Amino acid sequence: MFGLDGPKFFLYLTKDTPYTRWPLWPGEGRDRPAGEPHGPYRTLYVNPAASAALTRGEPLPFGSLLVMENRAADKSLRNLAVRIKLKGYHPEAGDWYWFLFSPDGSLQAEGKPGTCIACHSGAKDRDFVMHGSVR
Ligand code: HEC
Repeated sequence: MFGLDGPKFFLYLTKDTPYTRWPLWPGEGRDRPAGEPHGPYRTLYVNPAASAALTRGEPLPFGSLLVMENRAADKSLRNLAVRIKLKGYHPEAGDWYWFLFSPDGSLQAEGKPGTCIACHSGAKDRDFVMHGSVR
């Protein structure tokens, strides 16, 4: 039913509508230091639809995209952790479609990965958004 193609989606995110032109999570800067599993440095980009909702304090609408750059201690890019909210995709877990990309675009995880969802379920009441719940 949902034929999202990971490699194509990576090109969409990095070439067609580069996420690097999107706003950051409201009020935040680049390369925030934080712990595992996504650390030690993160930059969290949100697409304009998500940014507008977050700024207004509203729930994230369908079509929201969150793209987190995870950098190593030497600031080299380690991977991109991505979530897109798609109506009807996975109602049990907030309808999020998850991706973990290597810097070259190869996929480490895609779809409904149990490991991502299990940990992010700690923020079930915040639409599975862990960001802001820990430092
Ligand atoms: C062991 C717990 C854990 C696992 C497993 C995990 N995450 Fe996270 N994730 C976190 C935490 C904690 C944060 C908040 C980071 C911050 O505040 O900077 C986070 C943040 C994120 C964000 C930024 C938006 C948000 O939800 O806060 C994305 C995107 C993300 N994770 C994707 C993934 C993907 C994709 C996977 C699986 C490949 C995954 N995560 C697995 C704990 C986890």
